Amino acid sequence: MAKIVKRKDLAAEVVLMELEAPEIAKKRKPGQFIILRVNEQGERIPLTIADSDPDAGTITIIFQVVGKTTMQLRDLHEGDKIADLAGPLGTATHIKNFGTAVAIGGGVGTAVIYPIAKGLKEAGNNLISIIGARTKNLLILTDEMEKISNRLIVATDDGSFGVNGFVTDVLKQIIDEGIKPDIIYAIGPLPMMKAVANATRPLGIKTIVSLNPIMIDGTGMCGGCRVTVNNQTKFACVDGPEFDAHQVDFDNLGQRLKVYNHQEKESCKIFG
Ligand code: FAD
Ligand code: NAD
Ligand code: FES
Repeated sequence: MAKIVKRKDLAAEVVLMELEAPEIAKKRKPGQFIILRVNEQGERIPLTIADSDPDAGTITIIFQVVGKTTMQLRDLHEGDKIADLAGPLGTATHIKNFGTAVAIGGGVGTAVIYPIAKGLKEAGNNLISIIGARTKNLLILTDEMEKISNRLIVATDDGSFGVNGFVTDVLKQIIDEGIKPDIIYAIGPLPMMKAVANATRPLGIKTIVSLNPIMIDGTGMCGGCRVTVNNQTKFACVDGPEFDAHQVDFDNLGQRLKVYNHQEKESCKIFG
């Protein structure tokens, strides 16, 4: 059992929770995630560890409500307990001083990029961050990203805040300014990560994305999270979740993510 010590709505259907998990809080590194079950009959879902406080023994998760399990989690309150959580899982981000690093977060992907961006800044990189959302009210972690970045550029699809456009439009703008990133980390919706990869491939800029296939055990045993990278099968839970964007088969992942759409919709309807 893990107690919810803090619960906060960050945006429409985006919730932050701090969970009691002292061992995970001590060990976790940027890029790692947990798999949790809300209750003993529930499915296991992976969520990134957005932050941790080893002294308080807590970890932070930020999740978007998209289906039954995230609805169940949303409906819990401070003081409630979830059945269990496993972690830290996944290979931690390879962090060093690359020089100029660009961290791109699309929508709720900003929660996943935040710990990586923080690690890159602490390692001494000149950190340029780009975050985007459909509209102003869906932006998250703007203050937190500003605090850790040398420069933060915010974009909204509808122009209600910051640059009017996609995060990829901002990336093109900064490259046109003459900035030469030594590395780019991009996390968000699949079409966004694919668009970043397509923009940086011809320029030869090393680009890393974090993949989000459906996961079950999170330990490399079930094969549920398999992805195709450089024409090879990889298990995102142990070989990733981060991979070289220029080698990822995004279309294959997109198809695999849709496999259970019908059941997921039915499950939502029954849950209400
Ligand atoms: P479901 O009913 O299972 O699905 C609803 C919709 O979400 C469907 O369109 C389905 O295709 C899609 N979906 C289902 N499972 C996944 C999945 N594992 N990844 C992506 N899409 C999925 N989400 C966050 O909001 N915050 C995070 O920090 C975060 N970190 C993640 C880290 C990793 C390593 C991975 C693999 C995924 C992460 N996700 C994160 C996605 C999150 O796991 C899913 O949104 C969640 O499993 C959906 O469960 P559900 O029962 O609410 O929805
Ligand atoms: P969204 O659809 O609102 O998009 C967020 C931003 O991404 C947009 O504002 C835009 O700047 C950019 N973007 C979107 N489509 C683009 C395109 N075709 N080209 C260029 N840029 C584009 O996102 P959301 O609803 O907040 O996020 C949900 C998505 O994030 C889900 O698809 C979910 O699976 C994914 N996600 C990924 C991870 C991960 O680990 N990779 C974790 C959590 C969520
Ligand atoms: Fe089972 Fe990765 S989730 S192998």
